[in-house]
Amino acid sequence: MAIPESMTSWDVAVVGEIYADHVFTGFARWPGPGEEVLAEHYVRELGGGCVNTACGLSRLGRRVRLVGLIGDADFDWFESRLGDFGVGMGGIRLGAEATGITVSVSTRDDRSFFTWPGANKGLADLLDDSAVLADLLAARHVHFAMPLPRHIAAELLPKLRKAGRTTSLDVGYSPEWLTDPRHLETCREIDYLLPNRKEAALLCGEDDPDAYAAWAWAEGLPRAVLKLGAEGALVVDADGVSRIAAPRVDALDTTGAGDAFDAGLIDALLDEAPFGRCVERACVCGALCTTAAGALRALPDSLQLRTLREQTYGP
Ligand SMILES: Nc1ncnc2c1ncn2[C@@H]1O[C@H](COP(=O)(O)OP(=O)(O)OP(=O)(O)O)[C@@H](O)[C@H]1O
Ligand SMILES: [Mg+2]
Repeated sequence: MAIPESMTSWDVAVVGEIYADHVFTGFARWPGPGEEVLAEHYVRELGGGCVNTACGLSRLGRRVRLVGLIGDADFDWFESRLGDFGVGMGGIRLGAEATGITVSVSTRDDRSFFTWPGANKGLADLLDDSAVLADLLAARHVHFAMPLPRHIAAELLPKLRKAGRTTSLDVGYSPEWLTDPRHLETCREIDYLLPNRKEAALLCGEDDPDAYAAWAWAEGLPRAVLKLGAEGALVVDADGVSRIAAPRVDALDTTGAGDAFDAGLIDALLDEAPFGRCVERACVCGALCTTAAGALRALPDSLQLRTLREQTYGP
């Protein structure tokens, strides 16, 4: 049973690594050593799964507390851009270093990323802070978008559970975390673990959705979800294993689809919808996010979400 809205300040606290994304697109080729090539387009945008999921949830009408670290030079930019989505700065702290940076470089057929974690290096210490625990306890649901360190999980997750808060975790592509058996306990303690196909393969040791379903069941994850890109999602619960097909959309850019999926899922969980319905809403949110360039520009509102959900899966 979810905690009632009236007892909390936030519907969701979203915690994780925050980035400034610098996105260069339209290179004719990858440069050789010492060469320079020119991009056709450049945009700077807020990044990090936690930003994408927080903005997605806020666009769906949820009260969101975004918790993470940035550098002070970017405060005004974050305040203004997060403000476009109705997300406030109250949970964001200023780190010891500048905002983390991801440089994304695309040629016509490939994309590569260069990342500097910057202020995010202080995230584990931040999560040890009692003021942050208070922020998390003030929300009905807590979503972690980061490779959650084991000692932090061991400290926080039992407290959140005891207080009746539900939790979810999107680790992202972190091979070290996903292959380290110490984190199995975290996978069991989290209510909803949200990997994509590559991440699930690292968790279970096999690139096969059915093998992941069997692994999740054997490891005692009572409700497992696996994101499968254009194929939708796989769900494991007490009724067994089922597949949810993705809605048909004109996908332009899949960046952030998984983070939008997380937002749709959490939104439906807060409504206490049946689990299969929650994953349908997640798939619709992920699909709609792919219809414009970047992770933030096509995040749907509730009406768009409901319309495509009913068109795809029925009333
Ligand atoms: N081409 C597509 N058409 C329709 N739906 C899609 C498409 N790509 C992604 N989705 C939806 O978004 C969800 C998440 O996508 P995906 O499995 O690519 O996550 P991801 O790899 O974690 O994404 P990212 O980490 O880039 O945010 C899918 O489960 C699906 O519901
Ligand atoms: Mg992802």
